[in-house]
Amino acid sequence: MKKWLGKFKTLTLLGLLTIVLAGCGKENLTALAPKGGSADTSLYLIILTTTVMSLVFLAVVIPFVIVLLRFRKKKGDADFIPEQVEGNQKLETIWTIIPIILVVIMAVPTVLATFELADDADASEHININVTGNQYWWHFDYEDEEIATSQDMYIPVDTKVYVHLITSDVLHSFWVPTLAGKLDVNPENVNTMFMDAQEEGVYYGKCAELCGPSHSLMDFKVVAVSEDDFDTWVTDMQDFDSEELELDAIATEGQELFDSKSCLSCHATDNQEYQAGSLPIGPDLTSFADRSRFAGILLPTEENLVDWIVDPETIKPGNKMTGAYDVTEEEAEKIAHYLMQLSPSDVTADSVDQEK
Ligand code: CUA
Repeated sequence: MKKWLGKFKTLTLLGLLTIVLAGCGKENLTALAPKGGSADTSLYLIILTTTVMSLVFLAVVIPFVIVLLRFRKKKGDADFIPEQVEGNQKLETIWTIIPIILVVIMAVPTVLATFELADDADASEHININVTGNQYWWHFDYEDEEIATSQDMYIPVDTKVYVHLITSDVLHSFWVPTLAGKLDVNPENVNTMFMDAQEEGVYYGKCAELCGPSHSLMDFKVVAVSEDDFDTWVTDMQDFDSEELELDAIATEGQELFDSKSCLSCHATDNQEYQAGSLPIGPDLTSFADRSRFAGILLPTEENLVDWIVDPETIKPGNKMTGAYDVTEEEAEKIAHYLMQLSPSDVTADSVDQEK
């Protein structure tokens, strides 16, 4: 009896954990609460296939359990071999045809959706963003608008946006679960997908392909803003010139250090020299202070930035900044202070979040 009680307790605990942990998702990082047309299609397919599979599961398990309980050999029963029904043509036909029908029910909508979601015939009529995956950051190149950015990908709400994916190094996978399905990021062929956001907001993006020690830190955000805000953001980004910033004494020193320590050879700080398709060695910092995060996961504060510049390896193992320069903590503080002045626009991830 006691043993039975122990098992009961464990099962109850596991059951409770399931219920509690099921609430651990994030509203903007789930395929189960879609906010985009492609994600709606994915959820429909998820529900369809889960329903079919659950019905099959029940159709097998329920008779199995009934048979197991009702027809088990009881104490004192005589040895008895039941009627053998192998080779029953009717049964064999039924359980061959039913699975075929079920597969067709799942396959037809899936194949149709796959073709629909891969159709890029009207791409030239919409916003196109060339996305490059790098260990461990994302580069977003808006060729028609002649701007580039990193970490936060801005899109206008209720508009179809095409992303064209390629990698500069290893395989990555581009995934914004709330807006669309995931797509591989390959080195040689450009993979294209589209997405739209039905509501303004900040949607979480992930790299979904193991790509090295900091794979789990290769996060980004899709910032969906109103069409007016998007136009404002684009203009702000185009006009921003880091050479024309009015800087205090510390920031001026920081800017000089940023230049003399060769940070500039890897990081762009404005879009004045924009060249289509050119890829910086490190993330574009034009809108650094406006970002929701940097290094994938850190809040852009001077304190975090100093920690990052002084010792990037502990924060993001395997990044390409480690060992590329020699900077003291005092110098890092000045550079951080300068980078926090790189704020081209009032349209930011924070401004969208606060509106809600
Ligand atoms: Cu890139 Cu994982």
